[in-house]
Amino acid sequence: MTGKPPLLHSLTKSDRDFMSLALHLGRRGLGRVAPNPAVGCVITKQGKIIGRGWTQPGGRPHAETEALLQAGTEAEGAKVYVTLEPCAHHGQTGPCAEALIKAGVSEVHVALKDPDARVAGRGIEMLEAASIVVALYEDDINILAAELNSGFLTLQHLKRPMVTLKIATDQNGMMRTPPGQDRQITGTLAQRRMHLMRAEHDVILVGRGTVEADNPSLNCRLPGLGSQSPMPAVATSQKTLPDDYVLSGHPDLILLNDISPLNMLKKLGQKGFTRVLLEGGPRLAKAFLNDNCVDEIVHFQSPNDFKDTSWPPEQSDLQLMGIENMSSQTKYSLSRLEIWSTDIANTVAAKEDAKDNVFFYRRVRPHFD
Ligand SMILES: NC(=O)c1ccc[n+]([C@@H]2O[C@H](COP(=O)([O-])OP(=O)(O)OC[C@H]3O[C@@H](n4cnc5c(N)ncnc54)[C@H](OP(=O)(O)O)[C@@H]3O)[C@@H](O)[C@H]2O)c1
Repeated sequence: MTGKPPLLHSLTKSDRDFMSLALHLGRRGLGRVAPNPAVGCVITKQGKIIGRGWTQPGGRPHAETEALLQAGTEAEGAKVYVTLEPCAHHGQTGPCAEALIKAGVSEVHVALKDPDARVAGRGIEMLEAASIVVALYEDDINILAAELNSGFLTLQHLKRPMVTLKIATDQNGMMRTPPGQDRQITGTLAQRRMHLMRAEHDVILVGRGTVEADNPSLNCRLPGLGSQSPMPAVATSQKTLPDDYVLSGHPDLILLNDISPLNMLKKLGQKGFTRVLLEGGPRLAKAFLNDNCVDEIVHFQSPNDFKDTSWPPEQSDLQLMGIENMSSQTKYSLSRLEIWSTDIANTVAAKEDAKDNVFFYRRVRPHFD
């Protein structure tokens, strides 16, 4: 920013509402735009929306380009709400800051500065040099924009993707059902929620133990979102997977042979991935937690109790991973709780109003704060 004071004092409720809409639009790109950020953009004139856009699959066109296309000549004198600083560099297309200047917009609201060295404030400077009023948000909206782009920001700052650890357990903290029992831990609705998480990540990673136990396909099975399935990756010391696993036939399967979680992530970062969903078993999850490589934990907790006297694990999987008591954790804090009714009930805990709880925990402070 130049020396001008930010416009924050004059932001109205509708400014915040339009920016919130832009944040929602940006979310549509998650899992489809790496290595680019998932950006949303809304253009308004006299309080009416004249253009909306979000980063398109593969990262282009950018959100501003899409919204400007809809607004057409109406963009002259309009207000723009964009969740990330408009780009200032020439890539496959010209800079978005330049396109906004050419369109003659009068005001640009930006939720978050872009840390990319090619932008880093230059987008805002270009707009201000063209006498466009710029408002850089510094409050809760700024935090929401950082959350939306946590994958992009983590890759920029740490050269690795962000990691969401997903775990599903019964009441006793077990991620596995006793031998011979149905493998499903949570009900259909919670399962669908989990598949939405798959759609919003670039890569889904499991250890070989999970491949051997479950022979999973790791795709997104929500109607219409199959094409948004993440790239599957397996951590293993083996050079190949036996042919009889479903994943062996996947043309883009990534095998990660490094024992170090950080090295695995650096490799995925070099390929431009920004968001990894860690859906492996307790052993791989423990290694990632120990290596300080988990940014979010999403715990699907079923009301069921899979205790079975014929099945005697000495400690629960949550204990094995060292996260049996999240309320005493200082590294993560609860950011959201979702409750889904469940249709799965075993004989021990069959209750009509049984619910699956989904706890979302976030790092209290990102590494790069
Ligand atoms: N409820 C849930 O959310 C959930 C999710 C996934 C799995 N599961 C269950 O978990 C069970 C499998 O658990 P698991 O612990 O055996 O599977 P896992 O953690 O997925 O896989 C362990 C394997 O990962 C590889 N690996 C690579 N780097 C590693 C490292 N740094 N640390 C540890 N392992 C590393 C090793 O393969 P190599 O031996 O080839 O080197 C190791 O044997 C199954 O019963 C499955 O159904 C539950």
